[in-house]
Amino acid sequence: MFNKAAILKAILLVCTAAALAGSFSYGYYYAKPPMHSYVQQDPLQDIKAMEQKAAQNPNDADLLANLGNAYFDYGTSLRDGGSNDDANSFFAKAAAVYQKALDLKPNQVGIETDMGTALYYSGQPDQAEAAYKKAVAMDPKYINARLNYGIFLLYQHMDRKGAREQLTAALQLNPSGDIRNKIRTLLADTTEGGAPNYTNDIEPVLFQGCASCHGPGGVMARAPLYTYYTVMKFVTPGDPKSPLLQKMKSGHPVKQKTETIDLIERWIMAGAPGPQ
Ligand code: HEC
Repeated sequence: MFNKAAILKAILLVCTAAALAGSFSYGYYYAKPPMHSYVQQDPLQDIKAMEQKAAQNPNDADLLANLGNAYFDYGTSLRDGGSNDDANSFFAKAAAVYQKALDLKPNQVGIETDMGTALYYSGQPDQAEAAYKKAVAMDPKYINARLNYGIFLLYQHMDRKGAREQLTAALQLNPSGDIRNKIRTLLADTTEGGAPNYTNDIEPVLFQGCASCHGPGGVMARAPLYTYYTVMKFVTPGDPKSPLLQKMKSGHPVKQKTETIDLIERWIMAGAPGPQ
């Protein structure tokens, strides 16, 4: 169920987004088309130019961060091409210049997070974890730090509980749709056996046990429990204190079977995925 390829892909996805966003704000565009479309742009030449610029301005933290992003992206392209050893050395270079950038200009949570990923990719998981922890402490509301740390905990340490804590926190920070879906998928991986299926497992329970009152014409029609959308008014993904679960645990409307409560709990803890 856990494999290295999965963690690499998962972290990378988020991290590339972060690196790209960073590069946009620094005015450096990786996606910039070549000036002449028949000229193949050589990323190593770009990197050389940036290295020279950074050497001439050794105290420019933004230039260094920028260079770190370029190393990172080049490492990614090498790894995607199958050259793992070469890729690792570029990730190590990225981590080193990110560190320099942070020494010059501390408390940049995005760079701290990317440094964690660069360290991880270059084969330094302990240092990676330290960087992720620091990033989360620096800004507990920074989604990418929570997310990458969660992914790291899940696949590197197989620490489901720790991962769930970070991923749930990330989910509660209201990420955009793509990231939200990704977090839900990851949360499902933190649950033994994966997430229960809403249509096959959850809906029948709510329909049979609840909809007679919590449905059209029922005494609790104002708290409807017959569509995913309305059920989610009583569920916070990843939160065991969700009213739906609490209510069922309290023996409402009748004492529930342990398996039923476990099922609902696993579904909520797995991010409460909807109908596929
Ligand atoms: C026999 C009718 C009946 C059934 C069946 C029933 N409920 Fe309720 N439910 C109520 C009533 C009445 C209330 C309001 C009083 C209370 O909170 O207990 C309520 C309240 C709730 C609330 C709080 C709603 C709010 O607006 O805060 C939740 C959540 C809830 N029920 C969940 C469930 C779930 C889950 C099931 C199925 C396992 C279920 N109920 C089955 C009658 C019912």
